[in-house]
Amino acid sequence: MKLLEERILKDGNILGDNILKVDIFLTHQVDFQLMQEIGQVFADSYAQAGITKVVTIEASGIAPAIYSAQALNVPMIFAKKHKNITMTEGILTAEVYSFTKQVTSTVSIASKFLSKDDKVLIIDDFLANGQAAKGLIEIITQAGSQVVGVGIVIEKSFQDGRQVLEDMGVQVTSLARIKNFENGQLNFMEADA
Ligand code: G4P
Repeated sequence: MKLLEERILKDGNILGDNILKVDIFLTHQVDFQLMQEIGQVFADSYAQAGITKVVTIEASGIAPAIYSAQALNVPMIFAKKHKNITMTEGILTAEVYSFTKQVTSTVSIASKFLSKDDKVLIIDDFLANGQAAKGLIEIITQAGSQVVGVGIVIEKSFQDGRQVLEDMGVQVTSLARIKNFENGQLNFMEADA
């Protein structure tokens, strides 16, 4: 997605060896117009797939996911990282290990929001090692729903997340694919949409 790549080059900051800071438009302050365009591109990519739900994980996945859901005209569900006192009914959970933070967290979705008839598009802001998306796939599969694809705003293609998800038989659609950060320079490879 050309517009997104241009925005990353304009407003993204490389931190250390492998972290891209995009808090100006995605992970802290959110550019809703860009998110709306991103949502439309995901919706167009999966227009023929019969998607019935969009699923993401809090927090930064929510903005691109809500606009994708709007464009597809389906509900959006975000997995919770902390159990809420109102989550009293059946919940589906998965353990997610973050290589970046070196912690394991339990993510959950109330089982009433997913059924055997659902065809799900997962949306997330970053794909690094793929553990968050893998956890979501596990939860959605527990519900008996079908994961149709994973839509990613920014994929760090030098990490193994894409391989992890493709090995699970899931299609990945990334709007920007970062090949590497070389000498403080960000290089893209061809994106999926
Ligand atoms: P994984 O899910 O692909 O395995 O990713 P990993 O555990 O390595 O990442 C942990 C968190 O860090 C995730 O957000 C992920 O989106 C984010 N992250 C990974 N690489 C980058 C990066 O280069 N830049 C930025 N800005 N974030 C990155 P999270 O902890 O779930 O945070 P949030 O969504 O609640 O903000």
